[in-house]
Amino acid sequence: MVSPVARAEAFCARFGLRLPVLLAPMSGVPSIPLASAVAAAGGMAGCGALTFDSEAIADWMHRFRQAGGGRALLNLWVPDPAPARDAEAEARMAALLAAEGAAPGSLSPGLQDFGAQCAAVVAARPDAVSSIMGLFEPSQVTAFRAAGIAWFATVTTPAEARAAVAAGADAVIAQGAEAGGHRGAFDAARAEAQMVGLMSLLPAVADAVEVPVIAAGGIADGRGLAAALALGASAVSVGTAFLRCEEAGIAPVWAAALAEVAPEGTVPTRAFSGRLGRAVDNRWTRTVAASGGALPYPLQRAATAALRERAARDGDVELMQMWAGQSAAIGAAMPAAQRASRLWQEARELLA
Ligand SMILES: Cc1cc2nc3c(=O)[nH]c(=O)nc-3n(C[C@H](O)[C@H](O)[C@H](O)COP(=O)(O)O)c2cc1C
Repeated sequence: MVSPVARAEAFCARFGLRLPVLLAPMSGVPSIPLASAVAAAGGMAGCGALTFDSEAIADWMHRFRQAGGGRALLNLWVPDPAPARDAEAEARMAALLAAEGAAPGSLSPGLQDFGAQCAAVVAARPDAVSSIMGLFEPSQVTAFRAAGIAWFATVTTPAEARAAVAAGADAVIAQGAEAGGHRGAFDAARAEAQMVGLMSLLPAVADAVEVPVIAAGGIADGRGLAAALALGASAVSVGTAFLRCEEAGIAPVWAAALAEVAPEGTVPTRAFSGRLGRAVDNRWTRTVAASGGALPYPLQRAATAALRERAARDGDVELMQMWAGQSAAIGAAMPAAQRASRLWQEARELLA
């Protein structure tokens, strides 16, 4: 049996890293200083390109390389089928928004052209592309492979992991229920039912597939990294713990909430986008839960655009979208390069 440290070192050697740590892609947090710091420390930078058009994808890679470069991953969301419309639910949501003094946004999906995004990623040539919410088409997989771009597929169950490997994934990102932000269940309707914690998910996925497994969800210090490696992972993808670094540049009230939120103070919610994601619990998450639910993605995202913008501008924590994993408050805030290096140093000591 390969030791956890040797497994992590093999992953690092294959992908040109000095640490088995990835900055998790986070749409809405495309910070170049954060990405650069993690890459400079020897990890892999990540960028959530959900809302980017082709130009923005090229621009992000260009700015990352100008800032010093290093290993980087771009992330794309595989589109869901078109959402069903429900006039009654839409009217109910408009009334909830009106009660908060916010105009409901126009319900146009407002999504980027996925094919064009894939082509832009091929042209930008990051080291890896990650998928979430589903799998790439065979022609897209062929194009990534021809460009020398590795495919890391986000999965939330062993069945999704097997499907990803059958479709050609080079590694899978096993996303546990602890994770902050959106949950990558391939079938949006099954997201709540498939909330598996990493303690169960990691060994099950590691047993189900031969490719390297990257753990995501609730990893905030060396204990989490060591545990993930012991459970079968080769590396970890860390989101919320890097959000707390100054380089992330998030709103001060969001950073303050992350520093003090208890694990049970984050909730899986559809209130902001219609796709399930873990965020700091607040009045808006509770209002939507009590109302009987959100509109499907991306209609809920469109409907709440004005509310979310106003709340972010005003620093209104009762209405703001504040994505957060369950380990948000673990440890002190520190510079991102230090956080990345310490994760690996502490994990090695624990596993020695
Ligand atoms: C603010 C935020 C935005 C996110 N956006 C994306 C995204 O666009 N694409 C994606 O694959 N995952 C996204 N995620 C999930 C992360 O990639 C990762 O799975 C998660 O952060 C890991 O859990 P942790 O936050 O507890 O470290 C996001 C997470 C956060 C916190």
